[in-house]
Amino acid sequence: MADKSFEKCILCIGAGYVGGPTMAMIAAKCPRYEVIVVDINARRIEAWQSDNLPIYEPGLLEVVKQARGRNLFFSTEINEGIRKADIIFVSVNTPTKTFGEGAGRAADLQYWEKTARSIVAAADRDKIIVEKSTLPVRTARALERILSANDKGIHFEVLSNPEFLAEGTAIKDLEKPDRVLIGSQETESGLRARNELVDIYANWVPRDRIITSNVWSSELSKLAANAFLAQRISSINSISALCERTSADVTEVSNAIGMDTRIGKRFLNASVGFGGSCFKKDILNLVYICENYGLHEVARYWESIVRINEYQEERFVRTMTRVMFNTVADKRIALFGFAFKKDTGDTRESPAIYVTRMLLAERARVVITDPEALENARRDLAEEKGDVLYEQDPYSAAAGAHAIAVLTEWDLYRTLDYKRIYDSMEKPAFIFDGRNILDHQKLHELGFSVFPIGRPALKHF
Ligand SMILES: NC(=O)c1ccc[n+]([C@@H]2O[C@H](COP(=O)([O-])OP(=O)(O)OC[C@H]3O[C@@H](n4cnc5c(N)ncnc54)[C@H](O)[C@@H]3O)[C@@H](O)[C@H]2O)c1
Repeated sequence: MADKSFEKCILCIGAGYVGGPTMAMIAAKCPRYEVIVVDINARRIEAWQSDNLPIYEPGLLEVVKQARGRNLFFSTEINEGIRKADIIFVSVNTPTKTFGEGAGRAADLQYWEKTARSIVAAADRDKIIVEKSTLPVRTARALERILSANDKGIHFEVLSNPEFLAEGTAIKDLEKPDRVLIGSQETESGLRARNELVDIYANWVPRDRIITSNVWSSELSKLAANAFLAQRISSINSISALCERTSADVTEVSNAIGMDTRIGKRFLNASVGFGGSCFKKDILNLVYICENYGLHEVARYWESIVRINEYQEERFVRTMTRVMFNTVADKRIALFGFAFKKDTGDTRESPAIYVTRMLLAERARVVITDPEALENARRDLAEEKGDVLYEQDPYSAAAGAHAIAVLTEWDLYRTLDYKRIYDSMEKPAFIFDGRNILDHQKLHELGFSVFPIGRPALKHF
């Protein structure tokens, strides 16, 4: 039971990009609940207890500080947390399987299953279990089987409550979500559990934004939402390739099509490609599920979203090599940004990893700069052979470089002194704007040869 002073005890297993911010928001908004976040990774928990949080997310520290020590606690005592909790959110990682059947596509559910087994072993009364991780549709059924295989007479009610936050805007997304989705069984205990979870969110989310469904729809909605978002990026990126051949300008095309209210403006920026821990993994997971049900055409359709993304990353580096006189060997290339998007230090599946690998394969000398992601970049590239440097300061990164490639849309890169940068670089100086965020005309006037995505290049030769 929760401490007498608290109405309810909520536990979250998994203190990552989702578990940490989500629970911090619940704790901040609901001082009457005790919220405990546990993880097997002691270093991560220690960081959550400090002011040097394990993840960078604007506004997160303020929210954590509001509740930490009051009703928000971080701990490695997983069994104790399980015993105490009335509701258990499970937010462990569900990466793509790298071995055995379904390798490279199916979700690796080992962390998820281990968690379920820990819950069964430690629990001594009925609990509500909430799937917060993104899972293949119908995982709740498997989970229920594991949970109900107990001889303690304990009932676990499994709900699906996928998380739709985006890294970089997690706090805003959690504070004012477009919607909260809760999937439950239509049984009496299922509906009771669902209402209990609705009541938690209703502390700050308007009721009409809390929607409910059956468990399978809820699980599938998360995979489908990520597939649709990624599909928009791959769609505009495929058009960007055609723009580059026809002198059409992808920013003009995306503006023109985005003004159609049926299409809408968002997620229509052409770029070097999408990254992040979720899009690729969730689409591949969807592909795997479709194949399992014999829906091969549907699987091929969604798989092509990932293929276009890989094509776009590859095309970016091929353009770099081609325009730099067909060789980048021994040339210093400064990568502006390594995170998969701005306002996060997360580099999982970042296009920058792929671009770096390809440049190193071409024997370029790569210098990486990023305001938040250098530590992760070092880890990602630890095994790579070749010449890689890390520079916090973008001016130092660019000094002596033959080219700059903008790979993350950090606001900082829009406001640098590019005259100073140009003067410090080898000539001819190239900029490859993989995010289309810079003022290309101005850069061209300064002397740069500029290669945007899906827009005519501005050259000096
Ligand atoms: N990152 C996002 O933007 C995002 C958004 C929505 C949904 N999701 C989904 O949420 C889930 C978590 O993603 P994340 O980015 O927070 O992952 P993460 O890797 O940052 O965090 C997962 C944490 O779970 C811990 N863990 C693993 N096994 C454990 C166990 N048995 N007991 C206790 N802790 C354990 C790990 O140590 C890690 O700290 C994934 O399913 C992901 O698809 C992620």
